[in-house]
Amino acid sequence: MKSLVILISGRGSNMQALLEAGLPVEHIAVISNNPDASGLEIARRYGAETSIVDHRAFPDRQAFDRALAEKIDTHQPKLIALAGFMRILSDRFVQHYQGRLMNIHPSLLPAFPGLDTHARALQEGIKIHGCTVHFVTLQLDHGPIVIQAAIPVLPEDTEKTLAARVLQQEHRIYPQAVRWFMEDRIRLDANQVEIVDSCVNEIALYSPGLPE
Ligand code: GRF
Repeated sequence: MKSLVILISGRGSNMQALLEAGLPVEHIAVISNNPDASGLEIARRYGAETSIVDHRAFPDRQAFDRALAEKIDTHQPKLIALAGFMRILSDRFVQHYQGRLMNIHPSLLPAFPGLDTHARALQEGIKIHGCTVHFVTLQLDHGPIVIQAAIPVLPEDTEKTLAARVLQQEHRIYPQAVRWFMEDRIRLDANQVEIVDSCVNEIALYSPGLPE
């Protein structure tokens, strides 16, 4: 049985995009470290199995990660998708799931790893921003890149408007990346990801735009 586990901590809009995508999987389970995550309610509405592994109930990161891995493994997932999961995972955990642990990050990695990506993007004055789906490795927000989406930063953008436009793209690329994985179309070789039979798109994005 092809199964997918989605880890969340909060709102769960990326999880929702995955649940709505009609992915080629037979079983989806959602696990949250936060009992109050509003995404849990959404997951139940979509009929996904939900559970909570509350990090506050464990003495340290290792103990939490062990309990989380135990819960994940009951579903024997082909892939584990982090979707706004706000805990740093231990090296042991990451190694255990190497090659089948994906994350969505709200910047064009390797630019702006970590938090507050939209505010930092505005501060730096970059003209093109976006989001990245990547495999998780030991270095935070640095694993092999599966797919990215780019958007222009507009002169009137605030952190909020920029975040909203990036989020729209997150909801497009994460289901796509997970679909490729489930269809066995992702070849991972060291730091390079190859997508078997992907479309070629040679259109350039200029920001600000060039005159007509
Ligand atoms: C998203 O911006 C995602 O890229 C980042 O955390 C946010 C989670 O949002 N990792 P949501 O819970 O999926 O709505």
